[in-house]
Parts: sequence; structure tokens; C-alpha cells
Amino acid sequence: MKLADCHNIEDFRALARQRLPGPVFHYIDGAADDELTKDRNTQAFADCDLVPDVLAGVEAIDMSVEVLGKRLSMPLFLSPTALQRLFHWEGERAVGRAASQFGTYFGISSLSTVSLEEIGASVSAPKMFQLYVHKDQGLNRALIQRAQESGFDALTLTVDTIVGGNRERCLRTGFTSPPRFTLGSVWEYATKPGWALDYLLRGKFSLPNLEGHLPEGSKVAMSVADYFTQMLDPTLDWARAAEIRKSWTGPFCLKGIMSVGDAQRAVDIGATAIMVSNHGGRQLDGSRAPFDQLAEIVDAVGDRIEVICDGGIRRGSHVLKALSVGAKACSGGRLYLYALAAAGEPGVVRSLAKLRAEIERDMRLMGVQRVDELSREKLRWR
Ligand code: LAC
Repeated sequence: MKLADCHNIEDFRALARQRLPGPVFHYIDGAADDELTKDRNTQAFADCDLVPDVLAGVEAIDMSVEVLGKRLSMPLFLSPTALQRLFHWEGERAVGRAASQFGTYFGISSLSTVSLEEIGASVSAPKMFQLYVHKDQGLNRALIQRAQESGFDALTLTVDTIVGGNRERCLRTGFTSPPRFTLGSVWEYATKPGWALDYLLRGKFSLPNLEGHLPEGSKVAMSVADYFTQMLDPTLDWARAAEIRKSWTGPFCLKGIMSVGDAQRAVDIGATAIMVSNHGGRQLDGSRAPFDQLAEIVDAVGDRIEVICDGGIRRGSHVLKALSVGAKACSGGRLYLYALAAAGEPGVVRSLAKLRAEIERDMRLMGVQRVDELSREKLRWR
């Protein structure tokens, strides 16, 4: 299989699987417990159908939306994800360049493998910095200040990682960051020489945003679930979130909101946007899917805050359904990570081009020229 054979996200996933050592592939692909929530995130979109209007004269399509203070050329953006250099040696650099090409937001994780400063200086795409609140308060302050000074457009506080999720695939493979080549796993890495050579020869793996603060996080091999449990601050609450919001000048987003009560509290602390998200099913298995929960949240706060549907998006039609319910935009992680792992920057570009083309084609087929023409009138539930 090669990049030209990839026509949808499932194809990129298959190519990523071919290229990545098992522990790395399963880190991206896996989720918590029985992975029911991860599966439901995508399946939820099949519970309703789009009802098109025809003969609508749809030559010019404008799919742009305004999100977190930026006009995006399409209603889909790249959620912040960690450790990207493990998936492809160009990591966040490749993803940032691809996002720039498509004029859409992309996110840099606290656990990114390229520094805030480098991304700030080199990437023209709208940029959000994703904050994990650590026990080390000095680190939290430094991260926010560095993001602000590096010209990040928005701050996104992740709120669904108060403890590590039970990721059983990672327990079985022994995946850690940085990877630990144990007797049990070395074979998995050795059988993917393309990945192994890139990893070993193309510059040392590090987590530059943590350097000087947490040698454990960057250099001692540890699972991501253990990292969350040991390093992140379990006392994080709404009062702290409000302080963080105040300390950031500019658009502010909470990622991982699922309940109406929390969506209302997000409005109260002055958040610009919420990402309705269950962290790709990687934290609380049995948690509701973002698309299932979307209408409830849009009805409660949609007139006061931007509601983003994050998770499970695999098709342009999924984006159209979420926008019809009332989301401002959609976002996703695996949808571009598989492509990054499959082929680096050209992979991410191809996956975004495919999704963009699907959104555009489906808008024409639906008889709408602008995304604000999508409404619940265009949907029927089975
Ligand atoms: C994860 C984190 C790092 O889900 O976002 O693995």
C-alpha cells in the first residue's frame, strides 16, 4: 500500500499500521477499557441522515467559519496531540505546514516534540497551545507565558485528564515515551526499519516544553497514563480554570467538556469556545460520544460560546451533520495522525485535502453554499 492508495481515513490508518512499530501504532489507535466510546464517537454519526435540497444553484461554495478569533478556510481543524515525532520524524513541523496550507487551526500539546518558540516563529497557520495543568505550578506559568510570547492565537485547557485512562493496548505493548526497547518489544521496532532509522538518526527525541522543569517527563520512559496520574494536578478545579482564563490574553478554549452544567460554567468563566470531547475515548470508556451530546449543549449555550465537536470525525458528511446540529466547527486527532504516520507532511496534506473535498462535494449535494445554511431541518433521526 502507498500514499496514492489512501482515499479515506481508514486507508491512512492501514498505511500507518504498515509503517509504525506495533507499540506506537497502538498508542495512536487504542483507547480506554473496551474502547466502546472510541467506536461510538464515529458510529454516532450514522444515527441520523442528511436530507438534501436540490436544484439550488451551488457553483460557489464558502465553507469558511470563524473560530477562536480566526477565520478558518474550512469547518474542520487539527486538535492538539502529543508526541508527534514518534509518529513521523518531522512531527509537529509537518502538521503545522499542512495546517498552514489549509488555513485552519492546529494545536501544539504541552507534550509536543517541537518547542513552542519554534512553532510560533515558523508556522503561519492559526495556532492553539494545549495546556496540561501540572503539579509544578512554575511549569504551568512558564508554559502559558511562552505560548503568549511565541504568538499563539488561542489557549486550550484540557480538562478530561485528571488521572490517566486505562489504555490496555499500551499496557500490553509496554509503550512508553520515550520508547523503551525491551527484550519483549525490540522485535516490533526492528521489523520497521524505516521508522527505526528515522527515529534513531534524525535528531534526539525530546519534549522541549518541559525541559528544565520535569526531567522525568522528557527523559525517563513512562506511559502516558502514568504521566497524567503522576505529573498532572488532581486538584484542578473551576476556580483554577478561571484564573488560567484570566492569565491568558486572547481566545480561550476548554477541551473535554461533556455536560451542560460544565458548558454553562465555561461560559461563566469567559471561555470563547468549548470542545465537546471525550479525548478520543482514551480516558473514560462508557462516556457519551460528542455527536450524541452535541444538541443538548448547543441548545443550552450555543448562543453564548463556540461549540466544537471533537472526536470520531472520519468523513466530510460527519462534519456536515455536526454543523447541522449547531456546532461551529469540528476537530480531530487521529484523522491526521494516521496520515502523519503514513507519510509525513504529504500524508497530512492528502488527508486534509480529501476531507475538504468531501465537505465541499457534500455541501453541493446538500444544496447549500454556506455553512450557516445547515440546520437541524437538514437532518432526520432514524
Ligand atoms: C493522550 C494524550 C497525550 O491521549 O493526549 O495520549
